[in-house]
Amino acid sequence: MTPLAQQLEQQLQRTLTTATISPQTLPDVDDLALYLLNPDYPRTPMSSEQMQAIWQEPAYWIFCWASGLAMAKWLKTNPDYVRGKRVLDFGAGSGVVAIAAKQAGAAEVVACDIDPLALLACQANAELNGVELYYRQDFYQLTERYDVLLAADVLYDASNRHFLDAFLARAQQVLVADSRVKNFEHPHYQKLAEQAATTWPDLDEFDEFRTVRFYQSY
Ligand SMILES: C[S@@+](CC[C@H](N)C(=O)[O-])C[C@H]1O[C@@H](n2cnc3c(N)ncnc32)[C@H](O)[C@@H]1O
Repeated sequence: MTPLAQQLEQQLQRTLTTATISPQTLPDVDDLALYLLNPDYPRTPMSSEQMQAIWQEPAYWIFCWASGLAMAKWLKTNPDYVRGKRVLDFGAGSGVVAIAAKQAGAAEVVACDIDPLALLACQANAELNGVELYYRQDFYQLTERYDVLLAADVLYDASNRHFLDAFLARAQQVLVADSRVKNFEHPHYQKLAEQAATTWPDLDEFDEFRTVRFYQSY
């Protein structure tokens, strides 16, 4: 493991004491690897303090979420969507979408995540895949307008829905991927595609969360 990945694992073990990470290739996206949770980590009973710490700082970046995986796959087959463009990946988590966009030929990709550890994961994963990304923590401090804004699996929290409007002001084109919101309705987004995908490592989620829908701004 690289020093960055070691640092990441040490930080993770502050809350998930027995969890480890390792580089894993993704199903159907074999040229992209990420440091993700080892699926066989020993699940020992947790204290209430540990549980609370996990809820306070959920380590989303230890998974590649179904929507991120679906978007990475979609970018591999539709590279023109980002080729030569300035791209923002909102809610980057592991950085799966940001890295896929860069591999698809984006000129510049910014990974934005409110969680500083997610940004560290993006850095470790960018290094693992030999790509260069830029990093920002606070979406509202961004001043530039991007050609494309990508957002995968960020609507799980209803309080994030207002971002759909904020995205429109920040980029010429917005693509949102989501497997959780059932009745997505917004006057400036339309459904573009649907794809089957599974969160990786597999969380054994209900089948209903294994269909990812893409919505594009217009
Ligand atoms: C479920 S994860 C999805 C990660 C990645 N896009 C994927 O599909 O694997 C959601 C991510 O959104 C980030 N997030 C939540 N609210 C945010 C905000 N206000 N600004 C930036 N990132 C945010 C979380 O920290 C988390 O990393």
